Amino acid sequence: MEALENLMSRRSPMKLAEPAPAREALDKAIAAAVRAPDHGKLKPWRFVVIDSDARAAFGDVLARCLKRQQPDCPEEMLAREREKAFRAPAIVVAVAKIQPQHPKIPEVEQLLAAGAATQNFWLALHAQGYGAMWKTGAAAYDAQVKHELGLAETDQIIGFLYVGSIAQPAMDAKRPEPDGFVGRWTQPAA
Ligand SMILES: Cc1cc2nc3c(=O)[nH]c(=O)nc-3n(C[C@H](O)[C@H](O)[C@H](O)COP(=O)(O)O)c2cc1C
Repeated sequence: MEALENLMSRRSPMKLAEPAPAREALDKAIAAAVRAPDHGKLKPWRFVVIDSDARAAFGDVLARCLKRQQPDCPEEMLAREREKAFRAPAIVVAVAKIQPQHPKIPEVEQLLAAGAATQNFWLALHAQGYGAMWKTGAAAYDAQVKHELGLAETDQIIGFLYVGSIAQPAMDAKRPEPDGFVGRWTQPAA
């Protein structure tokens, strides 16, 4: 797919299904991810792949998180939370591996590099014909979830990327026009 067309056509599909991205496709997407801009060559990104067989355990992680946050929540809500793990045949957790108080590279720049890597990952999957949904929610900011996923306290989950084949494409949506987001600067404000 032509590069600009790939950028302009990326969407979050309504529904994902089997098959999950083939190993080779996933490897290519990770290879594209690690080419992201990276101030200080810190490589502040990690990708944790949750394959089909591990989804039930991941669903339990999500449900335990919800239960911690809402101890009285009904069993149906917990069941719905567990089901989220089955939105796609695989999940890739995108992580920013932050070096706190790095002498030269502010944390925000490390986070941005990991975000750029995640977008590269998504676009590379899209270019290979697969779909993804980038989700966060409370679980992304929960210390125990990080622990259960094998991450360090200083790591930041920047997205749960649900990945698979596109079973139902995104609905048509009006895309933002670029004009409203661009200004021209000519001189310092008084
Ligand atoms: C950091 C980040 C977190 C997001 N978290 C969620 C989320 O938890 N739930 C959700 O529905 N969309 C979330 N989104 C937005 C979707 O991934 C998606 O991009 C958006 O709905 C626009 O649809 P599109 O991808 O088809 O353009 C998130 C996006 C980003 C960048």
